[in-house]
Amino acid sequence: MQPKLIVHGGAGSSLQGKGGLAAVRTALHQIVAEVYALLAAGKPALAAVVRGCELLEDEPRFNAGTGSVLQSDGQIRMSAGLMAGTAHRFSGTINVARLKNPIQLAQALQAGDDRVLSDLGSAELARELQLPLYDPLTDLRLNEWLRERADNFQKKMAGTIAEAEPDEARRGTIGVVALDREGNLAAGTSTGGKGLERIGRVSDSAMPAGNYATPEAAVSCTGIGEDIIDECFAARVVVRVTDGLTLAAAMQRSLQECQQRQRDLGAIALDATGAIAWGKTSEVLLAAYHDGITLGDTLEWTGADLVGGKA
Ligand code: GLY
Repeated sequence: MQPKLIVHGGAGSSLQGKGGLAAVRTALHQIVAEVYALLAAGKPALAAVVRGCELLEDEPRFNAGTGSVLQSDGQIRMSAGLMAGTAHRFSGTINVARLKNPIQLAQALQAGDDRVLSDLGSAELARELQLPLYDPLTDLRLNEWLRERADNFQKKMAGTIAEAEPDEARRGTIGVVALDREGNLAAGTSTGGKGLERIGRVSDSAMPAGNYATPEAAVSCTGIGEDIIDECFAARVVVRVTDGLTLAAAMQRSLQECQQRQRDLGAIALDATGAIAWGKTSEVLLAAYHDGITLGDTLEWTGADLVGGKA
């Protein structure tokens, strides 16, 4: 099969605070090129998804790994989900701290009996795996939090798109969906969360609502976690494909429902035929893809039809 790949660096209202269109485009295109080369060389979808998530987690302009937003108590707690489509197997880590790449914990959990761990268990596993302690804090995120503290936390979410846009709701996450040469699908999603959330709040990214894959289709979401959970968005799209809808139709119907309920989210998806789809109810979706011929992105896509894609 022709391998396919789509990645995202979140959704939101503007590209301003991430360095602008050109900088985001360069970052996403470099990552897509590197990960697509792995798929083209015959690497499995799951390994390519993990590598893509690591690269996106390491890019400080996105809200996952390095560059994660701070919670209400000034701490960073990250979450990641990983699902192997052919094995139909989900794993995840919830609210893990002091780690460079949360997706690596989700990867280690794929083989285990206990496959979704919360904070304590995640810290214990990281220690067992001898993953080095790492501080993912950046000056930008610290300064955002300090400003919020000075304003007595009037805002509901941290500025994960632009520190210069204090009144906008922000949604930051990263995600990767891949189809390998053997026809296996996989999806991975990682996040620093909403920012300024209560301690113990659980993100959609480490739930099947925000990250889901089967042999038929795979989806990674971004946006407001509570909206994604209420819609059970990723699993909803995949089940619709399994029940016979095309990927584009499954995304269209699911996003129309989200729009009616004023949800704020975006998603990227692949199916087993190699169809690529993306969609959003938010203003901007920071996604890029490779279909074997073209490397493209959604950065200037207005999204008037809710869904875009490549057959
Ligand atoms: N979608 C990421 C979060 O809300 O935590």
